[in-house]
Amino acid sequence: MDIWHVRGGNRLFGSCRVQGSKNATLPILAASLVLPARSRLRNVPQLKDVAAAKEILTHLGCRLKDEADGVLLVDSTAPCGAEVPRALMGEMRSSVIFMGALLARCGEAKLSLPGGCQLGKRPIDLHLAALRAMGAEIREEGGDLDCRTDGLHGADITLRFPSVGATENVMLAACAAKGATRIRGAAREPEIVSLQEYLRSLGAHVAGAGSDTITICGVEPRRETDCTLPGDRIVAATLACACAAAGGRILLSGVDPAHFSTVLHFLNEAGCDIIQFNDVVEIASSGALRAPGRIVTEPYPGFPTDAQPLLMAALLRAEGTTLITETIFENRYRQVSELRRLGADIRLSGPEAAVRGVERLRGASLTASDLRGGAAMIVAALGAEGETAVFDAGHIRRGYEHLDDRLCALGADLWIEHK
Ligand code: UD1
Repeated sequence: MDIWHVRGGNRLFGSCRVQGSKNATLPILAASLVLPARSRLRNVPQLKDVAAAKEILTHLGCRLKDEADGVLLVDSTAPCGAEVPRALMGEMRSSVIFMGALLARCGEAKLSLPGGCQLGKRPIDLHLAALRAMGAEIREEGGDLDCRTDGLHGADITLRFPSVGATENVMLAACAAKGATRIRGAAREPEIVSLQEYLRSLGAHVAGAGSDTITICGVEPRRETDCTLPGDRIVAATLACACAAAGGRILLSGVDPAHFSTVLHFLNEAGCDIIQFNDVVEIASSGALRAPGRIVTEPYPGFPTDAQPLLMAALLRAEGTTLITETIFENRYRQVSELRRLGADIRLSGPEAAVRGVERLRGASLTASDLRGGAAMIVAALGAEGETAVFDAGHIRRGYEHLDDRLCALGADLWIEHK
């Protein structure tokens, strides 16, 4: 088990290149199965969740090779298995995207319900209904999913909620379907646009990603593709929140500021100076913040639920009361009880949180229980007096590449104890 030790009080200065996006990489790795092809993927982050997806691909018969500088070669030209063992499925939430990929490639998929952060119920009813509408037969028994099809066909699918995973699953399955598939009410996240770009590079006719209607109609297969993953907007938001909490001035590159503009907007309202140009953004904070207007998490382009714990952590000492409404996951306040140990004043009532700024936070022993909640504890600890220990059962490494080194390079005083 890793224990993160953070001595708060140091301001952050310097520049940092943001890692490749986890949530763009995972569906693209699943998509690499859809057609027999050789993919050269660039800017792939070294993360626990990415390692789990690579293990699934290897198990299914793909050949993978890591090259220097975040380049990953995936060769999916050999015949492909259709079964993902329960242990591999349980590693992360995104394993559910293998359902659409395997149905497209093999006409069958045997897998179990996915793992990932315990943020609430996290049902997959939208995935199942959409794939069934495309001609998949899916049996669910004791957490196992047995999916098969005599041939997928295009369908008009309306999602009652713009689920990221369901949109991705349908996009992958639709590549092998006869006829056109239209997804209405689709998720509009930047990761959906990245998936469209990758599928196009494999020869798929996909259009509309980034809007609420996506159309997929067939594929003229290509055998080789080269694709660069975008920077991770939530990691960028994490570093920006860390600077806001600790004070200082940092320059983030390798990420499109437009992809986390809602986070930058609230940091600016809280008193940070933000300068952005192309794929670079500078954040400057005096460390003395004020509560911004009400923060409501929403599907993209709204404020991202993944950044909610991070911004909350940055605002614990902000003057006034910050009001937050979490609308995406019912269990996304797991960080709150731990942040209170630092002295934070947070009142919860269902989806609402009221954070009344306190003058000072004091280091304490905390336990991370999910990925972003764990990162939020590091953000808060950077703005606290004294030493904080974050007991983390590997959660942070699921989504952050060398976060400790990156923060230390910016001047933070922290280290990881491996026990
Ligand atoms: C993805 C992201 C995750 C982010 C989330 C919301 C990845 C790997 N993960 O997760 O980091 O927090 O988007 O931006 O990209 N829902 C249903 N039925 C379904 C599917 C979803 O009711 O079949 C509900 C969920 O319970 C949740 C909401 O829809 O309340 C959002 O879920 P979804 O967009 O599917 O999130 P994920 O794809 O799991």
